[in-house]
Amino acid sequence: MASVTKVLLLGSGELGREFVISIKRLGAYVVACDAYAGAPAMQVADAAEVFSMLDGAALAAAIDKHAPDLIVPEVEAIRTEVLKDYEDRGFTVVPSARATIMTMNRDRIREVAATELGLPTSSYRYAETLAEMRAAVAAIGLPCVVKPVMSSSGKGQSTVRTTDAVDAAFAYAAQGMRGDRKRVIVESFIPFDYEITLLTIRTRDGVVFCPPIGHRQERGDYQESWQPAAMSAAAIAAAEAMAKAVVDNLGGYGLFGVEFFVKGEEVIFSELSPRPHDTGMVTLISQNLTEFDLHARAILGLPIPAITQHGPSASAVILADRDAADFSISGLDAALRPSVPGVDVDVRIFNKPTTRPYRRMGVALALARAGDVDIARAAAREAAAKVALSYHG
Ligand SMILES: Nc1ncnc2c1ncn2[C@@H]1O[C@H](COP(=O)(O)OP(=O)(O)O)[C@@H](O)[C@H]1O
Ligand SMILES: [Mg+2]
Repeated sequence: MASVTKVLLLGSGELGREFVISIKRLGAYVVACDAYAGAPAMQVADAAEVFSMLDGAALAAAIDKHAPDLIVPEVEAIRTEVLKDYEDRGFTVVPSARATIMTMNRDRIREVAATELGLPTSSYRYAETLAEMRAAVAAIGLPCVVKPVMSSSGKGQSTVRTTDAVDAAFAYAAQGMRGDRKRVIVESFIPFDYEITLLTIRTRDGVVFCPPIGHRQERGDYQESWQPAAMSAAAIAAAEAMAKAVVDNLGGYGLFGVEFFVKGEEVIFSELSPRPHDTGMVTLISQNLTEFDLHARAILGLPIPAITQHGPSASAVILADRDAADFSISGLDAALRPSVPGVDVDVRIFNKPTTRPYRRMGVALALARAGDVDIARAAAREAAAKVALSYHG
């Protein structure tokens, strides 16, 4: 076989699928891994392995079997000490084993950002027992946001507004806890004007940024995103400086999704993913290079001479509302006919084998060539609403 870059992708969701397409276009061979067969990235990869990313022995066996040039995590929940072990033995983990370790748990990245780098964050305390939780809430004050340190997509996360709600919030977080650490973070609630993701790419030639992406979250999961987010040049510069400090600390090459809250001119660091970000799916329509293309280029050591915008753009998610294995998706014909002239729309249907309440099954994308972000947002929402899920049986 010709010598090509071999990638082991750990996690094979919709972000992984777009990444596989991007890196395969640059000539890579990809083995896509996830806990279930037929995952979105497996549909477009060269080979697949089915195992839990939290199963250390299975993860090590997959690395041994495929001897990849690049180990590329697509999810947060991975047996990261195995990644560290393989990095120590000369394998390349994207962006770095340290980045995966520090971002898998909220408390670790918070210590890097707030304590080591001195970035502004919400005030916070940790709790491992109900008594500690009550003390943490008393110290932080109400309202506050409670999250398991190891969780994603809003799982186990809640906002506590009254003292009565503290015990239930702890129980909910404990139940939403992923992995083996029973610890929650209690954060002061930030009454932000808006929140953004700053896609930050660490390359051999330095750190580059995409224009800020605005997004709206519900239940801790993103509903729509748009680019560019209206933000002052000074606020963008502040966010870029913080993002650069964090990604330089974490090391390695690749794209990071750095999240900030913005209140007036104040920019507050929230968290980050050392990989493409779900809200960054808007770049599938907004930019010359998508976030997946940028990740691929950065990790292959290829240049990124310019990131250019096609115009104000938006994405809107297409969600399921129940558990089903027998379902179909229709309405693409209507979805792909925008009612507003001068707008391009597109969709990505992820082909996940089963649905769950709120499971993301696709995304609608819109580009308002001559309009503004509000037109793009309305067009993306309209397209998403026209895609219909039908459940059978
Ligand atoms: N301290 C906070 N104050 C206000 N809103 C918050 C706070 N923390 C989280 N949120 C809201 O919840 C969303 C999800 O929280 P986040 O910490 O990003 O968790 P996840 O890892 O699940 O994305 C954020 O995008 C924001 O909308
Ligand atoms: Mg987040």
